[in-house]
Amino acid sequence: MKNKVYIYRSFERFWHWMQALLIFFLAMTGFEIHGSISFFGYQNAVKYHNTAAYAFIVLIVFAIFWHFATGEWRQYIPTVKNLKAQLNYYLFGIFSNAPHPTRKTVLSKLNPLQKLVYLALKILVIPTMVISGLLYMFYRYPQNGGIVGMNIDSVKVIALFHTAGAFLLLAFIIVHLYLITTGTTVTSNLKAMVTGYEDLETAEHDNKQTVPETVSEIISEVVDE
Ligand code: HEM
Repeated sequence: MKNKVYIYRSFERFWHWMQALLIFFLAMTGFEIHGSISFFGYQNAVKYHNTAAYAFIVLIVFAIFWHFATGEWRQYIPTVKNLKAQLNYYLFGIFSNAPHPTRKTVLSKLNPLQKLVYLALKILVIPTMVISGLLYMFYRYPQNGGIVGMNIDSVKVIALFHTAGAFLLLAFIIVHLYLITTGTTVTSNLKAMVTGYEDLETAEHDNKQTVPETVSEIISEVVDE
């Protein structure tokens, strides 16, 4: 039976779209600084990139608070259950109209592949971008002011991490845009992130489904096959 379910709350949707906008803008200005594109002009690109970076950090602070205040961080606990099935679906099943291997519910709105990828973004890629970006910001300027003793090689390492992260985010955006279209209908995922509501298949036992809360429940969720 299909029911209209409120799946993405208002802050979550605001955070998602602001994050999308900021990452897109940071990528655009960043790749102009990198020399790959030319749009705003180098000087402006640097200025806009710095401003957007501060806005991004503020958004991240609010998002971290929201995830812990609501307990929604639990959505990202990775699991191997159905991971292979989900991967098989995207690689093969989807092309032969196979059914989705996992079902979205309010308590489990991310499929196992999303849990893994989003967690990696949250704890690896985004922190790498923020830390390397801040180091980049505060490493460069004193040097411009003439502090000769600063180690140039470290800036190269910082730039390498920052640029590698930018390419990973770019790859993520491309795959993400494609996967958005693979919901129940081509636009159902997009609509859900805009309105908060999605028509979902609901079953009696959904009400009894719980999210892992204790450490042992979390561990068994991660390793359960
Ligand atoms: C809080 C997050 C971020 C901070 C603090 C930050 C800061 C910086 C700084 C200071 C620079 C060097 C600017 C200059 O050379 O004058 C830079 C370059 C760059 N940024 Fe960011 N950035 C952040 C996020 C991002 C994101 C999310 C992306 C891409 C999606 C990105 C892509 C780039 C790229 C491609 C460059 C050029 C790197 C190079 O060629 O060395 N940045 N960033």
